[in-house]
Amino acid sequence: MHEDIETVLFSAEQILGGIVRVASELTRDYAGEDFTVVGVLKGSVVFVSDLVRNIPAKLEMAFVGASSYGAGTTSGNLRLNFFPMDEEIRGRRILLVDDILDTGRTMAALKAEMLARGASEVKTCVFLDKPSRRAVDLCADYACFEVEDLFVVGYGLDFAGRYRNLPYVGALKPALYQTSETQAPAEERGGESSAPDAANCSTQA
Ligand code: IMP
Ligand code: MG
Repeated sequence: MHEDIETVLFSAEQILGGIVRVASELTRDYAGEDFTVVGVLKGSVVFVSDLVRNIPAKLEMAFVGASSYGAGTTSGNLRLNFFPMDEEIRGRRILLVDDILDTGRTMAALKAEMLARGASEVKTCVFLDKPSRRAVDLCADYACFEVEDLFVVGYGLDFAGRYRNLPYVGALKPALYQTSETQAPAEERGGESSAPDAANCSTQA
């Protein structure tokens, strides 16, 4: 697995530093308040488990299964594989957590869905933010790191279902997706190569 990685972008130590910083922002911002952390499966699993263990609050946890791959690449076609029970969402402050904010369609659709189901507030927290690819008007309320327009794997992020268990974040060797019979990363993400200017997201917490 490690031999497939061209460069390491964030080491395990650097990742921990980003998590501790965001966890302390969340601890401060939600001090004394009830809230529910909703992890987006599968990519957020590694991140969310480290994140919550650094937040000393009586939070609750839930998960939502969402996929924008395959036929459904727009927010209107987002596939929800399963959804938390209504009572886990209604009237609650929700912190949606995902591995990466890319075009933003997944998080925008999930946020709208949570609000439609009666959440009192929905904020977003991502491990990585790729603002150059944004296609919808959405800024993450919390992000550990910003990345350039590069397909990355590890720490929950996959290529064709693999590499989620890498303890660091890296860029794959290009030969791997150029010769792969599976979808190339850009196609998997919907094929977009450009995105509107996301400069208004630069005030990232
Ligand atoms: P969005 O709806 O375009 O923001 O897409 C978000 C989803 O696309 C993420 O949850 C990831 O599953 C996937 N994704 C986007 N960029 C990458 C990447 O660089 N590596 C791995 N998965 C990615
Ligand atoms: Mg994902």
